[in-house]
Amino acid sequence: MKDVTQDTILVHAGRDPRNNHGIVNPPVYHCSTVLFPTLDALEESDRNSFEIVNYGRVGTPTTAAFETAVAELEGGFKAVNTGSGLSAIAIALSAFTKAGDHVLITDSAYGPTRRFARETLAAYGVEVEFFDPCIGAGIASLLRPDTSVVFLESPGSLTFEIQDVPAIAAAARTVGATVLMDNTWATPLFFRPFDHGVDVSIHAATKYMVGHADAMLGVITCRDEATWSVVKKTAVRFGVCAGPDDLYLGLRGLRTMAVRLRQHQDSALALADWLAARPEVTRVLHPARPDFPGHALWKRDFTGSSGLFSVIVNPVPRKALAAMLDGMELFGMGYSWGGFESLILPTRPAAVRSATRWTDPGQVLRLHAGLEHPDDLIRDLDAGFRRMNAAL
Ligand SMILES: Cc1ncc(COP(=O)(O)O)c(C=O)c1O
Repeated sequence: MKDVTQDTILVHAGRDPRNNHGIVNPPVYHCSTVLFPTLDALEESDRNSFEIVNYGRVGTPTTAAFETAVAELEGGFKAVNTGSGLSAIAIALSAFTKAGDHVLITDSAYGPTRRFARETLAAYGVEVEFFDPCIGAGIASLLRPDTSVVFLESPGSLTFEIQDVPAIAAAARTVGATVLMDNTWATPLFFRPFDHGVDVSIHAATKYMVGHADAMLGVITCRDEATWSVVKKTAVRFGVCAGPDDLYLGLRGLRTMAVRLRQHQDSALALADWLAARPEVTRVLHPARPDFPGHALWKRDFTGSSGLFSVIVNPVPRKALAAMLDGMELFGMGYSWGGFESLILPTRPAAVRSATRWTDPGQVLRLHAGLEHPDDLIRDLDAGFRRMNAAL
């Protein structure tokens, strides 16, 4: 598809009705064994196992449909599917590291990303160092000839620091490091990693791509053939693949992602405005708000904001926090985000940092604005604050 917007790519990519009896959506192939009619065909498929359907784990037309759609949307060479966002992160980190390498990871990264690096990569002889997410071009002072990977997550999904991706990527290039980015928050609609120097873009497709909190899915999109080949071979060696029905849910989610995201964005901004005026709230951590420290970078590099942000409320006894959270009617309390439903989660950023310190004494609450009407969500939050105050 040439000269079409991302909204249109979302509707058409990965579909081929003309070769599928005119049926709008691609079929879901449930597959392990693939049968070959001749020895020649078997051997040909072994020689080209990434191009020819050879075995269910390596790729099927269902896998290809999802990967093609994401790669097209993101403007990358090709994508690789995985069974969860975390497995996408683990595969991408593993693909570009070996014993003796040094890797740099943003201090604001998703907790399990840190844990994989510290407990698995380090055990295999990789030196893992975390850096201040606001370091920008200053990362040059941490880069070494043996730095093989710089891992970004912008904004960080608890505290929302925006990274100067182009400056970090340019510095990383001087030592030949591969730049990986967890782009789950923005989706390819609101941040285009390859335009900003990133080599490999990683998504927990579990979130906005699936969009309905009913499947686990990951995807890794690569800038060019060389990076894709490294990632694909690593994923195949690890035996990673998503299930066909989850891939289909990812593909189906993509069709409506643009309209859903516009609503998530608007509702999150409405909630953030309302929360900013509350006496209980000391700070709103939302990159699209002008009072947020990373706002200028967000405005320069991003084209929108999603539904996930945090607020810091005055410290309250656990009993008062529980009074608020236990009684919420619309906001659910639970991990993940990106589905149609609103979520609220108390978090402790200080516990998942090492290069920087999180010193704010307030209680961080992470919110995901779902697709309920924002007025109803505000009423739910208002009642929650009243319960909290009554319990003080
Ligand atoms: C920023 C970010 N990246 C990756 C993941 C992992 O995704 P999954 O839950 O699909 O493994 C999450 C999950 O919450 C996340 O918030």
